[in-house]
Amino acid sequence: MSPRKIFVTTALPYANGNFHIGHIMEYIQADTWVRAQRMQGSEVNFVGADDAHGAPIMIAAEKAGKTPQQFVADIAAGRKQYLEGFHIAFDNWSNTDSPENHELSKQIYLDLKQAGFIETRTIEQFFDPEKNMFLPDRFIKGECPRCHAKDQYGDNCEVCSSVYAPTDLINPYSALSGARPELKTSEHFFFKLSDPRAMAFLTEWTQDGQHVQPEVAAKIKEWFGVRTNPDGTTSEGLDDWDISRDAPYFGIEIPDAPGKYFYVWLDAPVGYLASLKNLLNQRGEDYDAYMADPSLEQYHFIGKDIITFHTLFWPAMLKFSGRKTPTKVCVHGFMTVNNGEKMSKSRGTGLDPLKYLALGMNPEWLRYYIGAKLNGRNEDIDFNAGDFMLRVNADLIGKYVNIASRAAGFIAKRFEGRLGEVSADGQALLALLRGQKNAIVAAYEARDTARAAREAMQLCDRVNEYVDANKPWELAKKEGMEARLHDVCSTCIEAFRILTIYLKPMLPQLAANVANFLIVPPEQFADVDKPLGAGHQIGQYQHLMQRVDEKQLDALFEPPAAPVAEAVKPGGESNQAPTLGAAASSLPPEGAGSALGRPGGEAIAPTITIDDFAKIDLRIAKIVECKAVEGSTKLLQLTLDAGEGRMRNVFSGIASMYQPEQLVGKLTVLVANLAPRKMKFGISEGMVLAASHADEKAQPGIYVLEPFPGAEPGMRIH
Ligand code: 2FM
Ligand code: ZN
Repeated sequence: MSPRKIFVTTALPYANGNFHIGHIMEYIQADTWVRAQRMQGSEVNFVGADDAHGAPIMIAAEKAGKTPQQFVADIAAGRKQYLEGFHIAFDNWSNTDSPENHELSKQIYLDLKQAGFIETRTIEQFFDPEKNMFLPDRFIKGECPRCHAKDQYGDNCEVCSSVYAPTDLINPYSALSGARPELKTSEHFFFKLSDPRAMAFLTEWTQDGQHVQPEVAAKIKEWFGVRTNPDGTTSEGLDDWDISRDAPYFGIEIPDAPGKYFYVWLDAPVGYLASLKNLLNQRGEDYDAYMADPSLEQYHFIGKDIITFHTLFWPAMLKFSGRKTPTKVCVHGFMTVNNGEKMSKSRGTGLDPLKYLALGMNPEWLRYYIGAKLNGRNEDIDFNAGDFMLRVNADLIGKYVNIASRAAGFIAKRFEGRLGEVSADGQALLALLRGQKNAIVAAYEARDTARAAREAMQLCDRVNEYVDANKPWELAKKEGMEARLHDVCSTCIEAFRILTIYLKPMLPQLAANVANFLIVPPEQFADVDKPLGAGHQIGQYQHLMQRVDEKQLDALFEPPAAPVAEAVKPGGESNQAPTLGAAASSLPPEGAGSALGRPGGEAIAPTITIDDFAKIDLRIAKIVECKAVEGSTKLLQLTLDAGEGRMRNVFSGIASMYQPEQLVGKLTVLVANLAPRKMKFGISEGMVLAASHADEKAQPGIYVLEPFPGAEPGMRIH
C-alpha cells in the first residue's frame, strides 16, 4: 500500500503578539498527531505561518513606528524559541503577506468570480469622524445583536460565535477614538454564500460525519436553522460574506479594484496553501502536482472560536473556486489554568510558555500533560498545577521511566550491557504490550491522546507488577538466579522499548534519548513487533527525566512580588547605595573625582586571583527577544540563548538607552552562573554585561557589551 499523503496546518496566529499557552497547546496537539502519522509511514507536510494582514496589525505597526512588514518580521523572529522550546517541528513557517499568498488569494478570488460567487454592493459602513477613516471591524465594539453580550467586536461575537456585520451591533463605538461612528456608503465585495449551491454543499460537507466532529456538526446545524435578525425579521441558511475592506488597509489589493483589499479572513486560510507552496518551492517540488493528487488529505487543527471561518467560508471558497476541500477540520477547546481561573497578569495565574522554559521546566512534561488531557473532542481542558505534578511524577516517571532505571543497572553491571533470552512469562507480558499497538495507533489517529496515554500507563502498571513479582534486586543477591535476573531485566528493557514507541509522539526528545541508550534506530510503530533480542548490546543508562519540583510550579504561577526598588541595574542589581566595606577605606581621598585613580568614576576593585575570576561563568548569549516591561521605565526583558537548548529570562536596567528592537538578534555577554533572582516582574536568570559611569547623574548612559564577530552563543569568556 502506498503511504498516506497528508498536509497539516494549525491556525495562523495574528502577527501582533507572542504565543500564549493556547497556541502552544494547539501546536503540541498537531505536532503529536503529525509525529504519530509519520510513525505509521505517512508522508506529512506540516506548515504554519503568521497571519500578517488586517487593520489591527496596520495600526499596531504605525504605533510602533514601523512598516507593517517590519512589524510582522519582528514578531516572526520571536516564534522560534517557542517552537524549538516545545519540540514543535513545523516543516515551514511563512506569513500571509508572502508572494505565494498574494498570488493564490487573487487566483482563488478570480475563480470564485468566474463561477458567479462574487458580487459588489454599496453598503453603509461605520466611519470614525475623529480618525477620518472607515473603521475596521475589530475597532468597532458594541453589544452582540444575537446574545446581547457587551463589548463584542464588529465581526463576530466571542460569546455566542455569531458572525455579523458591524452595523448590526447595538450601541456601537469606535475603539480608536471612543467616538460614536457615522454611517457612510462604500462599495464592497461579497462572497455569495446565500447561493443555494453553497448551502447544499455545506450542509452535506458539515453533516456527513466525515469532516468535523459530531459536536461541531451539531453546532453548525444550529447556525443553518431559522434565526431572528437584528431588525426582527427571520432568515435561514447563510448570509453573503463581506470580503472587502477600504484603504487604508494592510492586505492584498483586490484585482481590478484599486483601493479595495481582501478582508484578512479571506486571505488568512489561503495562507495554509501559500505556506505549503512556499515549502514545496524551496524543495523544488511542484505545488500543482502535489495538490492534484486525489489521495492527498488536508487536515486543519483549529480552536473552537474560529469554527465558522473554517467549516463554512473556507470549504466553500475551496469548493467553488474548483479546489480540493479539507479532509478534516479538527476543533479543540480552550485551555484554562488552575481550575478555570481567568488568566490575569496581575494575579499571575496565567501560564506563560516562555517563563515555563526559562524556569528550566521540561517541555515534555507539558507535552505529555496536554496529551494526557486532550481527547479529540471540542472540549476545554484545565491545566492544574497539582494534577500536572501528579501525572508527570507519578505516571510518567513513577510508572514509565522507572522501568528502565530498575532494569538497566543490572544489565550493565552483571551482563556487560547485553540482553538475554526472554522466557515464557516475559514473552506473555510483551505479547500483551504488543497487542495494544493497534488500539494506541487508533487513539492517536482520533487525536484521543488521553486514551493513548491511559493505555500506555495501564501497560506500565502491568510491567511494574511483573517487576514487583520477580524482584530483580532480590534475584541479584541469590545464588544461581543469574539467568532469571537476566531474563527479567531483558523483559523489562524490551517492554520499556515498546512503551517508548507508544509514547514517542508525545515525548520525541525522550524517545530519541532512549533510542541512544538502547542503541536502536528511530522507531516506527511497526518496530514494536521487532524485539531487540538476546545478545543485543545496550548503552549506558543515563537519567532520562527529572521529577517536577513543586518550587518550579510555585515560581511559574507566582504572582508578581511586592514592589522592589524601581531603579535596577542590569541583571537586577539593586540601585541602593552600597554599604562601605573594608575596601572603602582604601578609596582615594575626597577630591579624587577626577579620572586619576577613579577611571569611570570609581576606583579599581581589590585584586582577585584567577580562581576568583574562574568562578564567574561568562558566556556569549544571543538576544532572541527583547521587550519593554509593563510598569517599569528602567527595565527591558531579554530572552537569551546561551547555547543551552533552553532560553534564559533576564531583566536588565537598560531601557533608557535601547529600544527593544535594537537589541533583538545581537550577541552580548551573560553572567551565566549568577543565582536566579526574583524581581517584581519575574525571575531574572543571570545578568548581561553593560558599562556605565559610576556617577549616573553626571554622566548618564549604559552600554551593553557586544563581542567581535565570530563569537557564538554558548562560548565561554576566558
Ligand atoms: O484567530 C486567529 O488567530 C486567526 N489569525 C486565525 C487564522 S487561521 C487561518 F485562517 F489563517
Ligand atoms: Zn453573541
